[in-house]
Amino acid sequence: MKIALIVGARPQFIKLGPLSKKIKDHFKVVIVHTGQHFDNNMSDLFFKDLSIPAPHYNLGINSGLHGEQTGKMLIELEKVLKSECPSLGIVFGDTNSTLAGSLVCSKLHIPIIHIEAGLRSFNKEMPEEINRIVSDHTSDFLFSPTETAMQNLEREGLIEKALLTGDIMVDSLLDNIERADQLSNIVEAKGLVPEKYYLMTLHRPYNVDNPVMLSKILTKLSKIGSQIIFPVHPRTSKVMDDNALVIPENILLSDPVGYLDFIKLESFSIKIITDSGGIQKEAYILRKPCITIRPETEWIETVKEGWNVLVDVGSDDFVNTIETFKPSQEQNDLFGKNVAQKMFDKIQKIM
Ligand code: UD1
Ligand code: UDP
Repeated sequence: MKIALIVGARPQFIKLGPLSKKIKDHFKVVIVHTGQHFDNNMSDLFFKDLSIPAPHYNLGINSGLHGEQTGKMLIELEKVLKSECPSLGIVFGDTNSTLAGSLVCSKLHIPIIHIEAGLRSFNKEMPEEINRIVSDHTSDFLFSPTETAMQNLEREGLIEKALLTGDIMVDSLLDNIERADQLSNIVEAKGLVPEKYYLMTLHRPYNVDNPVMLSKILTKLSKIGSQIIFPVHPRTSKVMDDNALVIPENILLSDPVGYLDFIKLESFSIKIITDSGGIQKEAYILRKPCITIRPETEWIETVKEGWNVLVDVGSDDFVNTIETFKPSQEQNDLFGKNVAQKMFDKIQKIM
């Protein structure tokens, strides 16, 4: 019985880690990497850090407009899946690789699991929102990370396909946080003082594609009275370089870092500033206050529980909110535990 695991972007490699470890000795597994992320520090490094076997296929489909990138993925994925004939396909998250994987499998009548199903921002200007909706509606089994995601699936008439498994990124994080503590020396290497710096990432088109917007964020952050380490996503560095944006003195730029280094940076930070989906959850699990530069979030529970705050760079309160934000301290089990095991149990029943 063969399972095709379809990935392409950084957060998908992180989600793949614990699942591939759990299923690899029980099923024949074919890992198909679309090539959407391709730099060593956006791709191969994660396979190494998370001890994931190298992909059996890398389709080499890198950058491109949405139609071009997704279209090329459809063409190449169809060839691979037709020749491999898996009994099950698995896609993760909400990228163009997720969309292509779920479309190809459904057209080839390959049963498909969508991991991280049911998330909604209710903002269709985000390309991810379209990818989520289409993938949920074309998939046969929906592994849902949160109660809110289950409610979204119920509203769309998809609840019969859904299973509340919890979030696979909990397993990735808990499996690796001690290793990161032992193996990564990134805090010292970057000259950072533990618990005295902010950690930031930005890559949403809404924040970074317009250089005026990106520059406004950076300029406002110059007023924060602490150092900010900023591992820069390639989408963002392109805009910064092309427009020669001025980087304030308190912001320390870095190339993107590997998973062990990144979770170490998270765990020694005072607070995290981000627009990433995965990082909002990691901040919660690591009990770090999270400031999210977005008008809405799919991970609304973290906001309701008082560990995450949404900020608008146009607001007069932007800097003050970042500096003064204090979480409630109480936490519930929002994202579950032993998630890969729950997924594996269901996969065994499906196969
Ligand atoms: C993609 C996903 C987004 C996810 C993010 C995770 C879509 C529509 N977007 O956004 O949901 O949150 O990944 O990081 O699928 N680039 C490089 N090297 C790389 C990777 C990207 O230079 O290794 C450049 C590309 O050439 C392109 C830009 O970064 O110019 C954006 O890459 P792309 O994969 O299209 O979208 P992301 O912004 O990474
Ligand atoms: N991450 C990383 N190195 C970095 C930045 C992020 O390993 O330099 C990890 C982070 O720990 C999280 C994931 O990448 O697990 C989040 O991915 P990203 O922000 O690219 O995508 P999103 O979750 O928003 O789709």
